[in-house]
Amino acid sequence: MQALTHSGPGDGRQPRPARLEGSDWWRGAVGYEVYVRSFQDTDGDGVGDLAGVTQRLPYLAELGVDVVWLTPFFSSPGFDHGYDVSDYVGVDPLLGTLDDWDHLAATAKQLGLRLFVDIVPNHTSSHHEWFRQAVADPTGPFRDYYVWADPAADGGPPNNWVSHFGGPAWSMDPGGSGQYYCHLFLPEQPDLNWANPAVMDEFAAIMRFWCDRGADGFRIDVAHGLTKDPALRDNPVLREVHAGMHPMEVFASFQHIHDLHRHETAVLFQQWRTAVADLDAVLVGEMDTRDVDRFAEYVKDRNALHAAFVLQVGLSDWDPEATITTMLEYQAKSNGGTAWEVSNHDQARAVSRYGGGEVGLRRTLALTTLMGAFDGMLFLYQGEELGLPDAVVLGHMEDPMSARNGAGMWSRDVARGPMPWSTDPEKGFTTAPIAWLHTEALPAAFTADHQTDAAHSTWQRYQQLTLLRKRHPMLWQAPFELLEQGPTHLVVGRGSLRVVANLGTEPVAVPAAHVGTVLFESADHSVRVDGAHVWISPECTVVAATATTDAG
Ligand code: GLC
Repeated sequence: MQALTHSGPGDGRQPRPARLEGSDWWRGAVGYEVYVRSFQDTDGDGVGDLAGVTQRLPYLAELGVDVVWLTPFFSSPGFDHGYDVSDYVGVDPLLGTLDDWDHLAATAKQLGLRLFVDIVPNHTSSHHEWFRQAVADPTGPFRDYYVWADPAADGGPPNNWVSHFGGPAWSMDPGGSGQYYCHLFLPEQPDLNWANPAVMDEFAAIMRFWCDRGADGFRIDVAHGLTKDPALRDNPVLREVHAGMHPMEVFASFQHIHDLHRHETAVLFQQWRTAVADLDAVLVGEMDTRDVDRFAEYVKDRNALHAAFVLQVGLSDWDPEATITTMLEYQAKSNGGTAWEVSNHDQARAVSRYGGGEVGLRRTLALTTLMGAFDGMLFLYQGEELGLPDAVVLGHMEDPMSARNGAGMWSRDVARGPMPWSTDPEKGFTTAPIAWLHTEALPAAFTADHQTDAAHSTWQRYQQLTLLRKRHPMLWQAPFELLEQGPTHLVVGRGSLRVVANLGTEPVAVPAAHVGTVLFESADHSVRVDGAHVWISPECTVVAATATTDAG
């Protein structure tokens, strides 16, 4: 029997490995989503800003991430906190200036970090100049930038499409033409008409603008929604909608075949990829679908999106059996075009969704580690590295989805609380008495101040996890081999590396040859040697080098 060894602790003190290079660099990358409004405030107004992100970039570099995805910081009236853009090449004065962006981009470069800008192409703000012009002049060139339709025979909306945020997906033209315009989100977020080639030209120019100023790629908001059925047919109804339902439930009561997830959108991304080919930018789409074949259409031929977020796996409740099956299906069909995550700014935090407290954290880490062994990018959401649970919101709801639909509705605010940097207000998120989103203070043990230096902290474990792919490139470069699969456990081979995930509630025994040197374990004491087998503790994932080879 081989001796079981662990790679040394204190990895955080080793120098940061070199930046990933080559055209496929993103395949080995770990990304980090910064929800800008809640990351770091530097001007004392209670709202995070670009200068705050710059100030904290060294923290992200030390954590070991490769890519920083910034939520929208463009000019916006803020009805959906930046996802309603009124100028795609201007910075929201609440969040800073273009100079602040330039400084941020220069600092990121010095630190070896890449930047993803969150582009919002499905809709603009109703305050955008294009929409103002479209309303002011129904015969002018901007009218066709948006999706307009005459009323149904009864004078009501043209079809049964609903908005994600409640109510119909149609509102009356404020200009008095008698037509409706389409909005899959708020009425203040009119949908763009991607059947109009001028819209593509506009976005290619916007992307060029940000790439010229240091962006390395884009997170593409609502990528699955861009094209709409030209005949505007009704979506099939899956179940009766009744008053008092959460807007998300109402939305899920329809089969979204005519307003979302259309084959034409995948084709559109092929054209888009060609239009921006010279920018060398990585395109990662938000892809809210449970249909893996549909998902794969965008990525499998490597000619449309580089990757798409797998929302289905990361954002479900804890269900190891279903998770393993689904992850393997994405892995098999997507040709490496996956971007994995367990949380983002639109969902409850993973720790809370997976059972809360130590249990939730243990599960989150076990699953995130497994995701890191699959093809594609791995994304963390701000605060995940501190093991944050959902925030307790003290003030009023800010999320328009809940705020506009009545008290007591589940709100995305739970994931958007300010970063707990420190218990010292001067070193914390803001010096303002109350942050833009007022949440209950977390215990000191959750703060970055406390965790970055504390041995065995959650932060340190995430740091080790984040750096694994760079220290052992085989983890993403060697072919993915499924060596063993049980209902709730997996053994994945990557060259001479092994990733053993036990997401079940009982220990699992695997051949000892798999686990020579333990390179990473998602929880302490995950591995016990027993003759020809090693036992992996429940809800743990271990990354190891086999007994006979070096850790490549
Ligand atoms: C995406 C964003 C979400 C936003 C919506 C509308 O789903 O992640 O925060 O509200 O698009 O832009």
